[in-house]
Amino acid sequence: MNLRSLFALIFVSLSSLAAESEDSPVATRMKSIARDFKTLSGQISDTAQKDSSMELIAAIRKNITAAKTEKSGPASELSGTKLEEYQKQFTKGLGALEDRFGKLSDAVKAGESAKISALLGEINTLKKDYHKVLR
Ligand code: HEM
Repeated sequence: MNLRSLFALIFVSLSSLAAESEDSPVATRMKSIARDFKTLSGQISDTAQKDSSMELIAAIRKNITAAKTEKSGPASELSGTKLEEYQKQFTKGLGALEDRFGKLSDAVKAGESAKISALLGEINTLKKDYHKVLR
């Protein structure tokens, strides 16, 4: 093998490695949601940070809505009825998440702390249950 083909081989190997470790569009959304949700959970009971909490919820809702039209890593491995079934659950899970964050927005606006804790619990349950089947 000459030097030129050796370099070409190294380049191709590195590019395919990089492609494999790239996040799917859904994974990128999820990472952003996770970051915002962590910040939100730490400050949501602090009424002095209400405006910032409302902004975090708005950002999370935008990411959820956008994720609904995007593909996840596991989905790109599937086809036919398996893919259809997967996408059905995926849309259902994100729909439920959208609903809870909508309600959370109302509860934060109204300063209803019992409702806020209940909704945080429901969101964590949705995350756990859907990750079990979709990740
Ligand atoms: C606030 C609630 C949630 C948080 C904080 C969250 C966070 C995350 C995180 C951190 C990942 C890993 C991303 C990565 O590094 O690869 C992930 C992956 C994923 N989540 Fe969520 N998640 C939540 C709720 C949900 C719900 C309800 C669904 C239901 C549709 C869902 C579907 C997925 C899927 C399909 C993946 C895999 C993405 C991929 O590998 O392409 N998540 N989530």
